[in-house]
Amino acid sequence: SRKVTVAVIPGDGIGTEVMEPTLGILEAVGERHGLEFAWQHHDWSCEYYTRTGAMMPEDGLEQLAAADQILLGAVGFPGVPDHVSLWGLLIPIRRAFRQYINLRPVRLMPGIDSPLVLREGTEIDFVVVRENNEGEYSEVGGRMYRGTPDEFAVQESVFTRRGVERAARFALDLAASRRGSLASATKSNGIVHTMPFWDEVVHDCARDYPGVEVRDYHIDALAALFVLDPGRFDVVVASNLFGDILTDLGAAIIGSIGIAPSANLNPEGEHPSMFEPVHGSAPDIAGQGIANPLGQIWAASLMLDHLGHPQAAAEVVSAIEASLTSGVRTRDLGGTASTTEVADAVLRHVTSEGAAA
Ligand code: NAD
Ligand code: IPM
Ligand code: MN
Repeated sequence: SRKVTVAVIPGDGIGTEVMEPTLGILEAVGERHGLEFAWQHHDWSCEYYTRTGAMMPEDGLEQLAAADQILLGAVGFPGVPDHVSLWGLLIPIRRAFRQYINLRPVRLMPGIDSPLVLREGTEIDFVVVRENNEGEYSEVGGRMYRGTPDEFAVQESVFTRRGVERAARFALDLAASRRGSLASATKSNGIVHTMPFWDEVVHDCARDYPGVEVRDYHIDALAALFVLDPGRFDVVVASNLFGDILTDLGAAIIGSIGIAPSANLNPEGEHPSMFEPVHGSAPDIAGQGIANPLGQIWAASLMLDHLGHPQAAAEVVSAIEASLTSGVRTRDLGGTASTTEVADAVLRHVTSEGAAA
């Protein structure tokens, strides 16, 4: 069997609650697919920060580099400013390991009602490819003259040809392997200077993909269409901030932010990739045992896919679907089940699929 070393960072709040049962599900499905997981547990978090003055040890990134992949829960908790926790852990990992693609499927699972009133026959099944290393999330800028009347904050957006091109090509490849349609999120009416450049690079790349139909949408109109006509989308490519906003909206239209998964990919595989739910640490419900674990579990399935085990990944997704159609749901989906009860239901289905196979 193949041994896979996975760095596990549960992080803060519900991150720790949804991570634990996910590892058991991975072990169960791994066993049947010749995958043996070696977990490298890291308690890096806001609690760790309070103890040590840093979100991770000085050689934290080196420790992670030794792992094949990374599983993350969520980072950030009241008491530590978000810019400290995020620039101290999440963002450095995404950047150091060149995880320049953030892949975020938006799929309405069987058994879940979308909060939208959908037209007969509408299926929500698309993927957002979010640029994950640059754009609006740049390190160029800062705050000046704090506490004076001249105080200001400035941040430059940085779009490089290389950065836009690799996101565009990834999205075009994905669209070519799906239904052949790519929506590009833009704001090209010239107000935002970077966006006409984004459009130009996307369309330069698209010339190599005659089978993919590319259409630009202004981000504001695109957000409205996620609500009004989500069935039209196949692959959506977006900059870092646009993609961030669109994917919480995407999570909402598939019923809950608690289900949506996210893969921070280093497509070349030179570095570990990182798999996490779209949601954060949810301080408002932390410690109650009611967080939905499905986003974390679905993210684990994306990891299996990235590891080259699509069958194992599909079994996890089927088990998620089976748990949903059996009616075991957390409160965010209108149910009464606990985190553990939902995770146990998924585990049971993973195991019984194995027995059936
Ligand atoms: P959030 O995603 O944590 O919570 C938003 C809302 O969704 C809350 O009402 C929460 O209860 C609910 N929710 C989220 N996940 C859920 C789940 N699994 N089951 C049921 N309900 C769920 O977003 P926020 O409140 O904006 O941020 C809280 C903290 O998390 C902040 O510190 C933020 O910076 C951080 N954060 C981290 C990540 C990450 O690590 N990738 C992502 C987003 C936010
Ligand atoms: C996400 C989160 C992060 C982001 C925050 C916590 C920095 O919202 O993963 O979607 O904006 O990338
Ligand atoms: Mn987000």
